[in-house]
Parts: sequence; C-alpha cells; structure tokens
Amino acid sequence: MPTEPRKILVTSALPYANGSIHLGHLLEHIQTDIWTRFQRMRGHQCYSVCADDAHGTPVMLKAQELGITPEEMVAQTRAEHHQDLLDFHIEYDNYYVTHSEENKELCEEIYNRLNDAGYISKRTISQLYDPEKNMFLPDRFVKGTCPSCGAENQNGDSCDVCSSTYSPTEVINPRSVVSGATPVLKDSEHYFFDLPKFESMLKDWLVSGALQEEIANKLKEWFEEGLQQWDISRDAPYFGFEIPGTKDKFFYVWVDAPVGYMASFKNYCNQHNIDFDSYWNADSDAELYHFIGKDITYFHCLFWPAILEGAGLRKPTGVNVHGFVTVNGAKMSKSTGTFIKGRTYLNHLNPEYLRYYYASKLNDGVTDIDLNLEDFAQKVNSDLVGKVVNIASRCASFITKRFDGKLSENVIEPELVAQFHQAADGIAEAFEKRQYNRAIRDIMGLADKANQFIDAQAPWVTIKEEGKQQFTHDVCSLGINLFRILMVYLKPVLPTLAQQAESFLNDKLTWESAQTVLTNHEINKFKALMQRVDMDKVNKVIEDSKENLESSPKVDPNSPLVKDPIGETIAFDDFAKVDLRIAKIAKAEHVEGADKLLRLQLDLGGETRQVFAGIKSAYQPEQLEGKLTVMVANLAPRKMRFGLSEGMVLAAGPGGSDLWILEPHEGAQPGMKVK
Ligand code: MSP
Ligand code: ZN
Repeated sequence: MPTEPRKILVTSALPYANGSIHLGHLLEHIQTDIWTRFQRMRGHQCYSVCADDAHGTPVMLKAQELGITPEEMVAQTRAEHHQDLLDFHIEYDNYYVTHSEENKELCEEIYNRLNDAGYISKRTISQLYDPEKNMFLPDRFVKGTCPSCGAENQNGDSCDVCSSTYSPTEVINPRSVVSGATPVLKDSEHYFFDLPKFESMLKDWLVSGALQEEIANKLKEWFEEGLQQWDISRDAPYFGFEIPGTKDKFFYVWVDAPVGYMASFKNYCNQHNIDFDSYWNADSDAELYHFIGKDITYFHCLFWPAILEGAGLRKPTGVNVHGFVTVNGAKMSKSTGTFIKGRTYLNHLNPEYLRYYYASKLNDGVTDIDLNLEDFAQKVNSDLVGKVVNIASRCASFITKRFDGKLSENVIEPELVAQFHQAADGIAEAFEKRQYNRAIRDIMGLADKANQFIDAQAPWVTIKEEGKQQFTHDVCSLGINLFRILMVYLKPVLPTLAQQAESFLNDKLTWESAQTVLTNHEINKFKALMQRVDMDKVNKVIEDSKENLESSPKVDPNSPLVKDPIGETIAFDDFAKVDLRIAKIAKAEHVEGADKLLRLQLDLGGETRQVFAGIKSAYQPEQLEGKLTVMVANLAPRKMRFGLSEGMVLAAGPGGSDLWILEPHEGAQPGMKVK
C-alpha cells in the first residue's frame, strides 16, 4: 500500500450532445471508470467528472430540425447519456453539461486572462457563407467535388476517396449541406489564440512524462509542420458563449469544451465543499488526467495545455490516449449493424461482459481495439463463467449443505495462498499503468491455478469418503477464499459481480482483503452469479442496430441505382472528350499514410502512368498486378499529398469492400481505345 494518499482528478472526453452513446464512447468511459475505481480501492482520493458537450453548429442545427431549443435538446440528451453510462456502472462524481453558468464564468475569466497577457489577436478572414440560411458554414457543412481527384459529394475539408485534405474554398461546385444553396465568400473578423508562443513550453511538457511515446512523436511532427494561430471565434448564429467585449462573436466549441472539465468539477466542489482552486492553480499538488481518444489529441495536447499555461493554471499530469473501437475488424457501420448504441447493447446483454472484454484488451497504447463478437462471447464464457464463477459454484454448495455454511478454520496449501497474495503488487502496477490486459492475464492465471487445485482434490469425490470430511471442508473453504481474492482484483472491472460476491461471502472486499483469508467465517447461500453470453442475444443486438436505408417503394431496393440515381445528362461532345483506354496494372502498392489509396503503375502499351486509386478497401495490391482495366487517360494530372496522379481507373460498386475495377476481356491490349 503506498504511503501518502494521492489527490487525483480524472476526466473522460465530453460526448457531443447530438448523438447517442455508442460502444466506441464506452471504451473510454470504461477505461476511465476502471482506473478511478482502482485508485479509490487503493485509498486515494480520486474524483472523476464528465459532461455533455453542448455547443457548436451541429447541435444547433439538430435542435432546429427537431423543432426544439438547443437547451431543451441538450437537457434531454444529457439525461439519456448519463443514464446509459450509469447502466454500464460508469459512475462519475459529476456528469454535467458545458452549457452552464460555471462554464460561462470560467471561459470568460480564462479568456480575459489570455487577452490581458496579449495572447489574443483579431484578423479578418474570408469564409464560405450560406446566403439562404444567413450563416457561415463550418467545413463539414460544405460538400462538393474533391479538388484533388474529382470525386463528387465529398466533405468540405477532406476527401474520402483520395484522402487529400483541402480548404472548403477549393471545393469544386460547393453547396451548403444546410440549405443546398451555393455558398458565397464573406469576410468576418475572427479572434485568434497565439499558439506558436507556447512552442517551447509545449516542448518541455512533451518530455515531462505526461504523454505516451506515440503521442509525443505525433507532437514532434506537429512542431515540424509549424504551429499556427488558432481561430477561437465563431459568428452568430452559434450555440455557445459570447466572447466578452464582443457582439455576435462566440467561443468556438473547442474552447469551452475542455474548460467544461473544470466547470463540471467546480459545480461538484460547490456542492461538496471542496477547494476547487487547489486542483487548478499553477502550484496545485493534485494530479490531473484526461482520458481521450486519439482523434482529439491535438486539442488536448497542444491547445489545452497552452490555454492553461497562458491563463496561469496548472497543466495536465497526463493525457491518456486510447485507440478506436472496431467491430468484427471494421469501422463501426450502420448498414452492417455494428454501429452499436449503448442502449441497444443493454437491451440484450449484461454490461459487465463488455467491461470485462474491454479490460482484457486495453493497454496503455493507442492502437485500435477490435470487438470481435465471437471472441467476446467466447472469452467472457470461458474466463468469467468457466473459470472465476465456477470456482465458487463448485465449492459453495458443500459448505452450505454439509458444513453449516461456515468456512473451515484451517488453511491448507499455504503456498498457493501465498501466490494469490503476492500477485497483488503486479496487478496493482498493471492497473496503475492502464495495462488492464496484463492485469486480466495475471488474474486469469491465478484462476487457472485455483481450478487445477480443485480438480486435483476433487471434493465431490472426497465428500463421499469416510474420514475425508475435514479435508473436503478445508479444500472447499480454500476454493472460496481463492475466489474471494480473485474478486478483489476484479472489483474495479466488475463492480456488480463483486457486489454479488460480497453478499455471498458476507464480507466487504477491499484491496487489502487480498492479503487475508477468511476462516471460521459464515457465508451465504450461493446464487448463480453470471449467465453465459448467449450468441442469439449478441445477434439481436446486431439486428437492432441495422438502420434501414429508406427507399421509395416503387423501385427495387436491391438495384444499385437506388443508391446512385442517374443524374444530369451530358452532351455527346462532352462524352467524346473522355479518352478511355485499356491499361495493364504493372504494379500495385500501398501508400504510406493513406487509408484508402493504392499506388498503381499502369502500362498503356508504351507509356507508363502513375495513378492513385481509392480501392484499397476492396483489393490487396497483389490481387491487382497483371490485371487489365480501363482508365481515363486524358484526365489532367493532379498533384496529391503522395505524388502526381496521372489519370483514373474505373470501378463500380457502393464502396468499401464492395468495389470492383472494370476488367476487359482478355485479348484487349494495353493502350487500346475504349469505344
Ligand atoms: N466533444 C468532443 C470532446 C470534447 S472533450 C473536451 C468529442 N466528442 S465525441 O462524442 O465525438 O467523442 C467523445 C470521445 O469518444 C472521444 O474521446 C473520442 O475519441 C471517443 N470515441 C468516439 N468514437 C470512438 C470509437 N469508435 N472508439 C473509441 N473511442 C471513440 O470528440
Ligand atoms: Zn479526392
């Protein structure tokens, strides 16, 4: 047991108030909750806070769509999110909302301090504006043709087909997602935070031990690219807080969101008489940890520490970044039913299955975590039901029926017991370092030993043998005690199972309990502690998660045209301009840093072209080499992030793995014109 109790505050990223909690969010909340529960079991004072992230354009527009005020919408979503989390046994000391009085005051104070210190400047910028809706458009609210590869219907800031990133003003044929109108450019004065001034402070912080190695390396890349002034204002209409001393200028949601961590804690401190400042002052003796996903690293590892520093406050002790959840090896998807909401899961399955599965996979790195549903069922059944709970169920009934419900006064196999005691430090270290997978591995190693012991002693045989009653009593009592120690170690992960075990054992499980053995102790009747995962129920979760794509009843829903209706017609002359040629794929390879692209060398019979094609989701490079295909040979070359693309290959299909390049019959020769 460490000597001094630590003073700790932890946070999870604040879920946006315009969508439901899903299994991706839950990875983070479960990771945080396990860590918090572990710290508390170890006697530390550990507060945890979270909140709904209420502000920004998407929330504002969604509320409009629903015909309610954003305040009403946020209040509903917050309550729903909070209940979802509680039902997964995720317990924050406070689950607040960023649209709060405390947050407004803190944002204003922090902004004023930054402004007084000279870190804020103003500049006029030109941005796309929706002339029908009378609002500036965030990048994601502009769609159009990718300026890099020509793919249609791409986001205003990046292309899903070729992965290039660009400014929304470069998009070809842009349109507003809100009204469909063609956006116009409009000037507006914006407020900027001077991030580059904090470069050297950030470089020091980077080596302070606050960051995982992968994240520290990412930051180094960002330093090399050069830090930029950060645009922190948005024009009305915007759901947010008005910037002090301005009119119709609002804080960008990413300014008030991390301040929302402070505000949630402040709201809690006010109700519980806790010294808020002692957690946030520059000389604070408290530890502060943020648990976040890798997609929001920039905000938490550059902007946020810089803002805290600029406002004279303390910086985080650690930013703990995790990877993304994939389901059955792929990104969560609504069409395949793997975009699973917390509530849908809860309708069919025990939340502790998921807590256990995530714990068994989580480590301190940022690699993605796959929730393979077969593996999930198999692991929970074999580890929790088959190993841990089984120990208790094999021993309990003899104690109850034959030994008056009382554990023996003897402790047999002291060496085995010692192994269980001694494992505590290693398991504690693993939890502390967020290497939960290691903790679980160690715990299951012990569970195997307990089961081997019981198998070898076979109390179900000895109970029938004369003169073996005391021995049987001792064996079963030890089994129960080993189960008890395992439940101590699993308590941060499985709080409900631990609670049930406590009533069965008639004992409160603390971290120190793992160093003791119950003798002469009365236990209660054993009730089944956990059911096996039923694969039918898992399949129901998937079924319930499939979103039906609405289609008009007259058309065949299986027709590919449902998804890609034929649009405008073009004149024959326009068509005649397209030079389609047979090409042979001479070489195909992965492109470093590109999620969707393959680099192809196309042989046109005398000429070789390099083309980047967004077909990686459907083909391995080696499947392509040697194939004939059709290419647009006279497309103007485009410079992409990865090099020059000199044409385009033709493919059909809705996308993802359902994508097929066109393959001409053999006999066609590279270079032939397609007529
Ligand atoms: N509102 C911001 C966070 C502000 S924090 C001051 C936000 N919200 S979010 O709802 O999009 O995401 C909340 C958290 O969930 C983030 O840490 C994000 O990385 C995490 N995840 C969202 N989808 C995820 C997965 N599929 N897998 C794992 N975590 C994921 O960002
Ligand atoms: Zn593109």
